[in-house]
Amino acid sequence: MTKKLVLLISGRGSNLQSILRACQTGQIADAEIAAVISNRAEAPGLMMAQAAGIPTEVTDHRDFPSRAEFDTALQQQVDRYAPDLVVLAGFMRQLTDTFVEHYLGRLVNIHPSLLPAFPGLHTHARAIAQGVCWHGASVHFVIPELDAGPVIIQAAVPVHTDDDPARLAARVLAAEHEIYPRALNAVLSGWCSLKEGRVIWSTPVPSCADTAINPVITR
Ligand code: GRF
Repeated sequence: MTKKLVLLISGRGSNLQSILRACQTGQIADAEIAAVISNRAEAPGLMMAQAAGIPTEVTDHRDFPSRAEFDTALQQQVDRYAPDLVVLAGFMRQLTDTFVEHYLGRLVNIHPSLLPAFPGLHTHARAIAQGVCWHGASVHFVIPELDAGPVIIQAAVPVHTDDDPARLAARVLAAEHEIYPRALNAVLSGWCSLKEGRVIWSTPVPSCADTAINPVITR
């Protein structure tokens, strides 16, 4: 049966685009994006989804008096689509514990760093300031603690001596577009799951997942 994804976004939507393409080409097997929900009406990703015929919705956090009330409304909206997986794709809101626990094991995020390094914002500038040689992206199951959930897949990219945050971000973003579809396919296929706070891979780990765990993407 076709698996359903609900994507939550706040902006540009380039990860949405890579996930959409992966659903269309079968890189993510037997899955469709059932809806894209944004907390910002002006998010460019919404137009991209509409052009692809995907239902879109906006729930603006500024219309709610508290974080809890916003998350309750969001949860009701998401649940209407009965998703197999809820995918945070540049969703720039911190979620309440109640929301996260409702979807535990079915809620994933992509973060632009090699977690646990650089949780939070401005990861590229912080990586350059720290002088690290490698930076990257992580796909992880979401737990209540911010950017601290168990990692499913990471991709590393080199930090060049003449990098500025924008150049480094572009290199990391290309890696994000490679690993997010792979991670979603692995979770939806049942190859990996969240159990007792850890990511468990089915054994034997399928060979295509082997290469996906830590691909080093150098461009
Ligand atoms: C990405 O860098 C993602 O890692 C972070 O927000 C950004 C979203 O970009 N969480 P886009 O909207 O998918 O282009």
